[in-house]
Amino acid sequence: MAEDATFLRNLWYMADLAGTVRRGQLRRFMLLAEPVLIGRMRDGTLFALRDICPHRGVPLSAGKVMAEGTLECPYHGWRFRADGVCAAIPSLVEGQDTDPCKIRVRGYPVAEQDGLIWVYMAAAGQEGAAPAMAPPKVAMKAPKPRWSESQTFHCYIDHAVIGLMDPAHAPYVHGRWWWRRKPRLKSKDYAPQTRGFVMTRHKPSKPAYRLLGGDVSTEITFELPGVRFENISGTFLGQKIDVVGLTTCTPIDAETTQVTQIFFWPAWLGFLKPFFMALGPTFLGDDRKMVELQREGLKFSPRLMLIRDADVPAIWYHRLRKAWEESVETGTPFANPVQEATLRWRS
Ligand code: FES
Ligand SMILES: [Fe+2]
Repeated sequence: MAEDATFLRNLWYMADLAGTVRRGQLRRFMLLAEPVLIGRMRDGTLFALRDICPHRGVPLSAGKVMAEGTLECPYHGWRFRADGVCAAIPSLVEGQDTDPCKIRVRGYPVAEQDGLIWVYMAAAGQEGAAPAMAPPKVAMKAPKPRWSESQTFHCYIDHAVIGLMDPAHAPYVHGRWWWRRKPRLKSKDYAPQTRGFVMTRHKPSKPAYRLLGGDVSTEITFELPGVRFENISGTFLGQKIDVVGLTTCTPIDAETTQVTQIFFWPAWLGFLKPFFMALGPTFLGDDRKMVELQREGLKFSPRLMLIRDADVPAIWYHRLRKAWEESVETGTPFANPVQEATLRWRS
């Protein structure tokens, strides 16, 4: 993998759906090539710790959650609180002065929001600082994940992200005999937003949107590190409805990225689910297979090209990434390098 295969820090990464970590459960994740234990105490408290026991290195995720709100290492039974501080060392006897409170496992800020678990990955040396921003938020009332699909892409995060925002691949990668159209001229307006950009609200051209009634409009946002929201509004049976699609790219390590798609909609729109169940995995799988194929070429470190206008979002991503890295390194405020633009391409 390229020598610049680093990860953006001081940002929130989506780990999994909140429901996948139940009370009393410990789960091991690899996030940005670090072993992270995400667990839940019996009272529901969610926590994230470095998944390495400070005593002799055993993964704490192999231990268990205790009734008094600690977790126990499976090797020598040391107990740790949700904040990572050691609460007990069973082998100690009177007169032995090791102070458990002085021993701690690194903790990660963790947030449960919109039915998802977000973990804040701080830069080296800044682990103690509180996150400067909240995790990305789903823009609808009381959002609940209604459908989700997660796949492991064998690629560095950049290729997953760029594939996600690439407007020119759809007819080739996602084309089906029953759904293939001649590429048409597209013209979309973009503007800078938060730590990324937005494709401003417009009428979508894909026929699938007609499920949501006549006057459908959509807005697509992207923000670092690899978070894409599609905010769809429509009118169905005379009622205004919002459907939100969220796609997240979370690096497992430099060679592997977890890509997750989640859709949120009001409960009464339940009839949408079979449609997503039928098509969702296929669409994400199309993208996954393409990055796997791309890997065959990237092995040889070829020079790659980015052309106007279809690759401009990819160019913006590289600029955003660079600007973010600089701001983390130097401690100066992040300046969004994206400018308002109208992009035109055929797809
Ligand atoms: S390795 Fe964890 S208690 Fe010894
Ligand atoms: Fe795609």
